[in-house]
Amino acid sequence: MRVLVVGGGGREHALCWKIADSPLCDALFCAPGNPGIADVATCVPIAAEDVDALVAWVSKERIDFVMIGPEAPMTLGLTDKLRANGVKVFGPTAAAARLEGSKAFMKDLFAKYGVPTAWYGRFTDPQKAKAFISEKGAPIVVKADGLAAGKGVVVARDIAEAHAAVDRMMTEKVFGDAGREVVIEEFLEGEEASFFVLVDGKNMLPMVVAQDHKTVGDGDTGPNTGGMGAYSPAEIVDDALHARIMKEIIAPTVRGMAAEGTPFTGVLFAGLMITKDGPKTLEFNVRFGDPECQVLMMRLKSDLLPALVAAADGQLANFDLRWHDDAALVVVMAAKGYPGTPEKGTVIGGLAEAAKVEDAVVFHAGTKAENHDGKTAIVANGGRVLGVAARGATVGAAQRQAYKAVDAIKWPGGFCRRDIGWRAVAREKNS
Ligand code: AMP
Ligand code: GLY
Repeated sequence: MRVLVVGGGGREHALCWKIADSPLCDALFCAPGNPGIADVATCVPIAAEDVDALVAWVSKERIDFVMIGPEAPMTLGLTDKLRANGVKVFGPTAAAARLEGSKAFMKDLFAKYGVPTAWYGRFTDPQKAKAFISEKGAPIVVKADGLAAGKGVVVARDIAEAHAAVDRMMTEKVFGDAGREVVIEEFLEGEEASFFVLVDGKNMLPMVVAQDHKTVGDGDTGPNTGGMGAYSPAEIVDDALHARIMKEIIAPTVRGMAAEGTPFTGVLFAGLMITKDGPKTLEFNVRFGDPECQVLMMRLKSDLLPALVAAADGQLANFDLRWHDDAALVVVMAAKGYPGTPEKGTVIGGLAEAAKVEDAVVFHAGTKAENHDGKTAIVANGGRVLGVAARGATVGAAQRQAYKAVDAIKWPGGFCRRDIGWRAVAREKNS
């Protein structure tokens, strides 16, 4: 099978790393890829959002199967256009990708199909949004309706902070059109979990559960990011809770999407808050999480490719995936300045040494290869730059190996959190 993975971040590096191992994969390409991905796949210099160029390239290269990593090409209709050409695709149609592309669409679907979530209001008028905030009180959450790279959410401690967020999104338009409409919602208290399920339009195949660290600073402080590190398993979700999440959250969403005429194919990623009153949905994404995907791929024992193809073919019923008992943990290394304006072009050393650390793998996210005096240098080229991942018998053991690899990396232009996995490690110490 000739396979194309679309995207070029840590998620796509982890997917390519796994798919490259599949006996079903005869040739693996990644568009646009990155210097880390180039070790396991042939990179094609086409941007993930350049839908027409991707469609033309797939026909020319006789690609059999396309796995789309990020949400943007899905919302732009890449799946629809490839399918119209008879190409098998893993990833939802543009209509189904609205589940992530519009928070308002998602919240209305939850209300219609009884999916537990925070109460909310939708607003296109900043004055009305502010009045709603004043009426409800704080803490309260303000979200830009459209896609804002994980940064369009403000958890406001007081009313003034919430009003300021409305001004930034709706009046100053810091997220452009994504902030034309805002969702104001209830602040939920609890522990978060990232829940992944492969879906073929109808049948559901759950994967293992992970936990992400959304804020930039140690101790879960500072502004939100796309994710600074993750680990799996997430023990907070035991078997009983897992069954409840499938029944109360995932199944009605999959049924609802089909009933709306937009059946979902691909991976559903539910961001959950495990509250005192049970699991509640913060959001749905229509793709793998990043960095969560990196720990999922580290733990997956089965071949990934047949599962992706089965999802695309509507054949997930009776499909099974096997997982390593080991835990996996990933530490994200970001360029200084992230999640604001990250510094670009700083040189990263020690990658070979880090890769030699036992049970560790370094995934590339925002990196670029440059020629420095005849030698290839890897430099920072984005906010989140590396995912330093490791496996271990416990989350604590995986954490030790991951930080050993982090410490081998020589990159003065970068930083990371030093406490990824802290909740799980504390629980392990207490048990
Ligand atoms: P989202 O992009 O909607 O997942 O939001 C990003 C992050 O903001 C989540 O992972 C949570 O940490 C936080 N968050 C979002 N919505 C809420 C909420 N209703 N209550 C508390 N925290 C929230
Ligand atoms: N790590 C969370 C996300 O990918 O949205």
